[in-house]
Amino acid sequence: MNEEFVVDLRSDTVTRPDVAMRAAMAAALVGDDVFGEDPSVNELQARAAKIMGKEAALFVPSGTMANLLAFLSQTRPGDSVILSSESHPFNYESANMAMIGGLLPRPIPDSFGKMTAEQVRAHIIQTDDPHYSPTTLVAIENTTNRGGGTPYMAEELAAIGLLCRERGMRLHCDGARIFNAALACEVDVSALARDCDTVSFCLSKGLGAPVGSLLTGTAETIHAARRFRKMLGGGMRQAGILAAAGLYALEHHIGDLREDHRRAREFRAAVEGFGVVFSLPSPTNIVFLEVETGAEAMRDRLAVRGVHVMATGPQRIRAVFHRDVDDTGLAAAIAAFKAVW
Ligand SMILES: Cc1ncc(COP(=O)(O)O)c(C=O)c1O
Repeated sequence: MNEEFVVDLRSDTVTRPDVAMRAAMAAALVGDDVFGEDPSVNELQARAAKIMGKEAALFVPSGTMANLLAFLSQTRPGDSVILSSESHPFNYESANMAMIGGLLPRPIPDSFGKMTAEQVRAHIIQTDDPHYSPTTLVAIENTTNRGGGTPYMAEELAAIGLLCRERGMRLHCDGARIFNAALACEVDVSALARDCDTVSFCLSKGLGAPVGSLLTGTAETIHAARRFRKMLGGGMRQAGILAAAGLYALEHHIGDLREDHRRAREFRAAVEGFGVVFSLPSPTNIVFLEVETGAEAMRDRLAVRGVHVMATGPQRIRAVFHRDVDDTGLAAAIAAFKAVW
């Protein structure tokens, strides 16, 4: 293999803007978005709201901020939030919901990062007893990152959404990879958003934009989120250059996620032949593999061959397929796994 050739399977966040996206960014109309005057940001927000079937949307720097804004704008300090023990906010967002939101996470241990309506019901706290922290929000992740990219089906979301409405709780969907979910479930993405009060999604993962996420919801919630975004220092000025990349991604890149899913399937089928054991199913673009001999050592051996993966546990590595890995990269990854396994 060419020594310079690198196949980066650590995450779909490593995707870089291509030539056409950079051209769209260079040509972007811009203004001061803190004054609400950036035409490209306004267009992206309107497009995002329409795609998700929501009243409004807010452009934010990251998926982490989108989740935090969803929490801040739909809860009060002292409330509790039901979420999966495998979820991104519970594991990887520096405890911001506790530190900034004053929120108590009520994590559900579950399978594949998903929760059923029954599991949610069993964790709700709603009582006048002042010992307890009332549950006012449920947060799901679609697809689940630590669950191997597993999507929620629309019916599963409908059951959780119904429960939330019956119990007066809000439902947030961390849809960092919701377009992967929609393609895997063969539904319009709005069908996965319908039962959720707020839905966030990331432009900077498989869609290939350099930066940015959107939070979508009611006009009232997004108005509140806008204030919190400013408070957190997330008010950006001529952000239209970034929004233009997002508009380009939404226009041209969503369908390409199917190719990432195909490559993940082909990778899995090929390496299974070398005796690789998988921790979880891989219905979209994320593959978790078990390494009895130690994940970090295996990661390092693959890196020597130009294939980068992430060690996510002592015996677990993750490979994520994305638009910067083509069929040549897939073949190189399979060859490297064959050599080291
Ligand atoms: C499911 C999920 N939610 C949220 C995030 C956070 O996104 P960001 O890195 O843009 O803050 C990630 C990032 O990988 C993610 O996988």
